[in-house]
Formats: sequence, structure tokens, C-alpha cells
Amino acid sequence: MNAVEIEAAVSALAAQPIDPEEFPFTFLQAFGNKQTTLIRLRKGESNKSDLGGVLQIHNIHIAVCAPGAVRKMLAALKASPATARAKAKFVLATDGHTFEAEDLTSGETVACAYAELPDHFGFFLPLAGITTVKQVRDSSFDIRATSRLNRLYVELLKDNPEWGTAERRLDMNHFLARLIFCFFAEDTDIFSKPLLFTSTVEQMCAKDSFDTHEVIGTVFRAMNTRVTDRAAASVPLWADQFPYVNGWLFSGSMDVPRFSRIARSYLLHIGGLDWKRINPDIFGSMIQAVAEDEERGALGMHYTSVPNILKLLNPLFLDHLRAQLDEAGDNPRRLLNLRNRMSRIRVFDPACGSGNFLVIAYKEMRAIEAEINRRRGEPDRRSEISLTNFRGIEVRSFPAEIARLALVIAEYQCDVLYSGRREALRDLLPLDTENWIICGNALRLDWLSICPPEGGETYVCGNPPYLGSTWQSHSQKFDLKSVFAGRTRGWKSLDYVAGWFMKAADYGSATNAVAAFVSTNSICQGQQVPILWPLIFATGHEIAFAHTSFKWANLASHKAGVTVVIIGISRHVGNRRRLFSISDDGTTILKSTESINAYLVPGPNIIVRKRSKPLCDLPEMDFGSKPVDGGHLFLDASEAKELLFECMNAQDFVRAYSNSEEFIHGKQRYCLWIDDTDVKRARGIQTISQRLDAVAEMRRSSSKAQTRRSASTPHKFGEIRHRVSRHTVVVPRVSSENRDVLPVGLVRDGTIVGDRNFALYDAPLWSIAVIASRLHWVWIATVCVRLEMRFSYSNTLGWNTFPLPMFTEKNQQDVTRCAEDILLAREAYSPATIADLYESDTMPAGLREAHERNDEVLERIYIGRRFRNDTERLEKLFELYTEMTERQGAIRNRKAGRRPPEGRARLT
Ligand SMILES: C[S@@+](CC[C@H](N)C(=O)[O-])C[C@H]1O[C@@H](n2cnc3c(N)ncnc32)[C@H](O)[C@@H]1O
Repeated sequence: MNAVEIEAAVSALAAQPIDPEEFPFTFLQAFGNKQTTLIRLRKGESNKSDLGGVLQIHNIHIAVCAPGAVRKMLAALKASPATARAKAKFVLATDGHTFEAEDLTSGETVACAYAELPDHFGFFLPLAGITTVKQVRDSSFDIRATSRLNRLYVELLKDNPEWGTAERRLDMNHFLARLIFCFFAEDTDIFSKPLLFTSTVEQMCAKDSFDTHEVIGTVFRAMNTRVTDRAAASVPLWADQFPYVNGWLFSGSMDVPRFSRIARSYLLHIGGLDWKRINPDIFGSMIQAVAEDEERGALGMHYTSVPNILKLLNPLFLDHLRAQLDEAGDNPRRLLNLRNRMSRIRVFDPACGSGNFLVIAYKEMRAIEAEINRRRGEPDRRSEISLTNFRGIEVRSFPAEIARLALVIAEYQCDVLYSGRREALRDLLPLDTENWIICGNALRLDWLSICPPEGGETYVCGNPPYLGSTWQSHSQKFDLKSVFAGRTRGWKSLDYVAGWFMKAADYGSATNAVAAFVSTNSICQGQQVPILWPLIFATGHEIAFAHTSFKWANLASHKAGVTVVIIGISRHVGNRRRLFSISDDGTTILKSTESINAYLVPGPNIIVRKRSKPLCDLPEMDFGSKPVDGGHLFLDASEAKELLFECMNAQDFVRAYSNSEEFIHGKQRYCLWIDDTDVKRARGIQTISQRLDAVAEMRRSSSKAQTRRSASTPHKFGEIRHRVSRHTVVVPRVSSENRDVLPVGLVRDGTIVGDRNFALYDAPLWSIAVIASRLHWVWIATVCVRLEMRFSYSNTLGWNTFPLPMFTEKNQQDVTRCAEDILLAREAYSPATIADLYESDTMPAGLREAHERNDEVLERIYIGRRFRNDTERLEKLFELYTEMTERQGAIRNRKAGRRPPEGRARLT
């Protein structure tokens, strides 16, 4: 169940008088418990309560008590040994009049009237497996409003199917924005009486609701007509109570969809909510899904957390404003300068959605301005921060509508907060007709015409769509082409978000704007780095600040959330750049550094390039052998058995085979492996002979000349890299990004390693320890290509470039021991496969310890202690890489009699 569905179920429960017997089960059902679970609880099979209530293990202990005994019952639930035994997360007591609950993990409590339970449903979302950030818990109102509006939207589309067509969707979206404004206005004194809009619809419409659209249309017409013009415009007296609002919101068509009786009752119900409590930043993100048919399933879940947005806005410019405020102290002149500076700051989000970055930037700036005014003794001064300085582009019409509205609401709320209601009202109406949220395609529009420089500073921000190249539509690819054509042919490999960075760099070149976007980390990894970043740097921009990978909690559900980075680019960076990262213990580390490279690592701008041989003293890593056989050289276990049954001698030609599937998932597979000298003998076995004929046939019909040539030797793999060895270390080429460790291991003697694996024949055991280390994991994650999110290991780009310090004999012994310990720890769980053992959440403790020890030993060899986080690991690896490649370059130059290049190679 999503949050909106839960809200609806909780509201339905609280709307009825309590049924003491049923309450615990209906409550649990509202949070997504299945019927089978409830049946078991009812029967008492899984109910562990010792207080006559309902206790669900790992979840909640609920009890309905006698009137007036709620507090006592809650204390009893908390103290109950059964609650502790069952590791319950919540206790809840109610008598049907009042309601109290406690989150036993955080200690937070809720106490309210029973009927107000829906206002607090967010508190219990963890019961439905929805992990919430505090703001989501506090935004129960926004979820409720979204839920109600969604019902109305769907109902209206049912009654007015033509409003759902592409041509009329814009009208529908505009209509909804008008409604939201009316609901907000009637609860916040913008309208002359509380509930003016809702009660007008209730009283003026016929009971069967046939004329609801006419009544609403008349109200809208009044809001579009100046008071002085109303008589001439025949606005009826009852509609004359509405103020003149106009602006972009109430101009244009006054068309209203028809309302069924149900739709009208939904509308009245929505009007009953307390719209004062709306959070324009949160509500906007949530409500977006209403207008998108495919997104409704996740209604109420789309939510970009305010702390995450501040991770970008603070280093982009807010920190600097606050620092200036601190420095200004009570100095009126300096405070004035800061206020003047802020009045000319433009914030521009070219993928603004419902405007959350703009709203938060606006609110934060208003808070700073209010503090300036307070210190200057002008607390009632009107704001000089104009909404027209907050500009956006959004391709979808509904979020664009909501972004405009959200900014108006934010402005009004700030005015009320800092100047009082009367001032706020005086300044609000009529609305401004200027509309700076443009509905259009940001990669095609000219940013300079939307946000021209006008003397002040401009900060470009947002979280544009990430979209890897395989997910882009045809027209999105075209968008990228239009941005990158003439600059690089590699644009096809870039994520869609790269287009925003390029446009921002061009815009910054013309305006001196500073830009920062949230992005997928893939634009700072592997193949995208050499395509995108030299182009950005060529415009004179540098990475001014960055936040390395972290989870972007924009879905308040089930641990979801993409891994993102934040990158700020500027042409005017001082001496220091700021790099934020999350340490292994979860705290944020800020590192001040001279430069940040395109991999988001402190240090000079180098690009890691493929090498044919290892940079360090590492064994050679090669591909496995490629069959090119149409599957005819392969046998599963039963086919192998049958073949041996047909002829015992066949065992000379059957080998165990290990490709990535076999290695990771422990599957058994065999292949025919026949030496040239044995072909005649092998052909004597009928099944083998038939298989070889099939291989020859397949190869002959190939379009590739090389494959056709190999038709004459069907007993052999198409590409043979197998070497006779005592053991072979294997690394799959593609593996899941969800494992904390890269899969690596040994295969039995004589096993043929397939080409979906890399092989290190007779490599020392310590190479397993190196590949299984966190250091190697971060290196591969950073420099190698990703397939969607999966790791695509590369011997030339990942292994041959890996900077490993020279091992002493003792180091070798220690690391070899670590590799042995890892292999032994795996043995202890035999026959568990690599896939079984390396699930992040369920990795056996012994195995995890072996890996921890391995990291400890290896990291001590690098720096004498454990690294604090991956950023530190990468910093060291890049430092070593730079040193080693420069040293090797110098040696090569000396040998070739060339003079050393001046300075360090930089990206150009
Ligand atoms: C990841 S959302 C971010 C929106 C908002 N900041 C939030 O957190 O909800 C990206 C937004 O970019 C919009 N978008 C996608 N392609 C676009 C384009 N070519 N031009 C402008 N906006 C676009 C999407 O409709 C979406 O609203």
C-alpha cells in the first residue's frame, strides 16, 4: 500500500465510532496487513498480547481500554514483558475518545482526539515498511490533500473524458491549480470569510449538482474581473464577495468541467481540510503524480527531502549568505549591503518540477532577510526578494502550474510569518501576471532569454532527470544531440542529465552564473568522464564543490532511493574547493581541497585510461575462452552423464566449464574440449561427432569471416585463452552493484573459464585478496563502465590501472593469509554460492569478518590505518595512480630521449 491509500483507510476508520473488538484489526489492515495475517491474529495464533490487546511481533502492541484509562493503558503496554519479547516498535492505546501512542525506538509520542487520528497516520508509516524521514511524518496534511485531490481528479476525468485528452489536459491542470488556490485562500484570510469557496459551492449549487460547473465558473469569473468592472460584467452579488485575483492563475478560459454528485461531495470534503497546513515544497512534489496516469500508483511517495535539497543549495550560495550575515553582525551598513545583494540574486531551476528547489531557496533567503531586518530594527519592512527572481523550466504542464502556485503560497506564508497577516494580505492580490516558470524543454530553450543576467548573481540549481542512455526516448536522445553536436560524438553514451551540465556551462560562460545539479554518479564514472568533463572544463568551469555518492531519499518507501552526487561548477572558484562525503559511520565529512577532479576525488584532473599491461606488480588478467559454437559444445549435467554412459572414453573430452553464471550461482555445466591430436578419437563417439558437425554448420553460416574460417576446426572454441595451470582465479565481467564485495574466487584445475569471466592463470593467491578489497571495489566502481548500475569489470581499465604499493615479503604473506581466510570462510557455508553468500543484508558474520580483516591488512599497507571512507580511499588511489603513471611516463621519455612535459597533464 502507498501512503495515500493508508491515509484513506485510516481516515475511514476514524470517521466511524470505535468498535473495540475490531479496532486493532482494522488499524492493522489500514497499514497493509493481509487477510491471512489478520486471521491468524484474530485466532490468537500470532497474537502475543498479555494485556488482552493485539500484539504483532516486531510491529505494534494495541489495546482498547475503558473510557479515561488511555494513559494508564499506554504505560502498561510499554511496561509489558510481552512488548519487549516481541520487539514491538509501537504501543497504542485508545478508548475511542482519545488516542495515545509511542514509537519505542525514537521515544516520540502522539496524543490526540480519536477523530484526529488521520492527522497522525504518518507517525505509523514504518508499520507498512515505509521508512520515513521526519518531514514525511510531519506532512500528513500534504498526503491527505494529495489523496483527496486525486480522488476528485479521477472522478472529474470519469465525468468529463474529453478533459483527459492531450488537448484539454492543460485546462484540467489549470483548473486544479485554481481549486487549490481557492482552498488555500479560504483558510488563510485571503478570502473575506473562512470557507467562502467551499460554502458557496455547497449553498449555490443544486442538490443534484448539475450546475456546479456554472457556480464555480461564476466564482472564477469574479476572480478574473476587477471589482470596479463587475457590475458591467454582470457578476452576481453572491460572487462579488470573492476578491479580484487574476494574474496568470485566473486569466484565460473560465471553463470548468462538469461535476457529478460524487465529484461535488469530494470537492466539499477537500474544502473541509485545513489548508493552512500545506507545505508548498512537499505538497508540490506529491501532487504531481495526480496528473500522470502512470504515476498514480506511487501517489504520495514522490518526495524530495528538504535536507537533501539543502545539501545542494547551502554550498551553492546559502552558506555564503549566512556567513556574510554572521560577519555583518549588527553593522547596519553591511547588513544593508547584504540585503541589497540578496534582492538581486536570481535562482533558476531548469528542470523545476513543482518548484521545490525554488520554494526552499526562497524560504531560506526570506529567513536571512528577516534576520537582517530584525538586526537593523526594521522588522516590519516589506520583503525585497521578488518572486520574479525565482525562475524555472518544466516540461510538464501540471508541475509547472503547481510550481507557480507553490511560490505564491510560499511568499504569502513568509509574509505572514515575517510581516503579519495584514501586510501579507495587502501585498498578495492581485497576483502578478508575470510568469517565470516556463513550460517547455530545457535542453531546447535558450536559457539566456528565460533568465537573462541583470547585474545580480544567478544560481542555477535542480535535480534534472538522470536517465541513462538505454532509458532515453528518441526525442530525449535528440535533445542531447542538439546540445552536444559539434562538440563530441560520444554524446550517445551520456546520461540525459549531462545535457543540463553542458547547458549550464554555456550559460555560465555568458553570465558568470554558478550551477549545481543533483545527478546520478555515473556521469563521474567510467566512460562518461572523458566524454563530458573535458567539454565542461573547456568552458573555463571547474568543480567548485561536490558531494560524493549518497542515497537521494525521494521516495519515502522501502529503502528506495537512487544513489546520487551533487556537483557545483563555476568559472570563478577561489583557491579552495569543498568536497562533502559520507563517512563509513554515516556522518558527513567536509574536505577543503585545491581541486576536485571529474571522478569527484580531491586532486588534479586526470583521466584513467586503458593499459595493456598492469601498472604495478600484478599478475596478468585475461578474458576466458569464447566458444562461438551455437551451444553445441556445451552439456548440462545429465547430458554429460549420458555421454559417458554412451562411451566411457568420452571423459577425456569433457571439462567442467565456468562462465559468470556458473561461478556466481554455482551452476554445473560442461563443455567439450578436444585437442587437435584427439579429433579422430573424439569423432569416433557418435554424439560428439554430431555436435561437432552442428558447430561447423553454425560457423559456416555466420556473417563473420573469422567465424566462417573456424568452421574447419569445430572441435575448438572460437577464441582460446585457456592455459594449463595449477589453479585459476576468476572474476566475472559483469556483476551486481548490490554486493559490497566484487565476486572473485578459484576454479578447479582443468576447468575451462568462459569469456564472461576474466581469468588469472596460476596467479598468486593474494590477487584474490586485492580484488575482494574495498579499495578495489571503489576503484572499479569509479573508473570502469557501468551497465545500467551493474559493475562491468575491465582488465585493461580496472585491473591494469589499479595502483598497488610494492608489497614486502611480509605484506605478501599477510595478504595471502587474508585470501585463504576468505576462501575458508566460504567453505564453512558450502554449498552456498557466491550469490547466496554475498547478499549485503545476509552475509554470514564469519565471512564478513574475513573481508573486514582483509581490508584492514590491505589498507594498513597503503596508509598505516583504515581509510575513513571511500572518498579517502579514492583520493589515495588517484594520488598513487598519478605518481606511478608520471614516473612511468618519465622513464619512457628518458628512454626515448624526450624532454619531460611541463607541469602535470591536465584535462583540456
Ligand atoms: C527529478 S525531477 C525533479 C523535479 C523536482 N525538483 C523534484 O524534486 O520533484 C525532474 C523534472 O524535470 C522535468 N523534465 C524532464 N525533462 C525535461 C526537459 N527536457 N526540460 C525541462 N524539464 C524536464 C520532469 O518533468 C521532472 O519534473
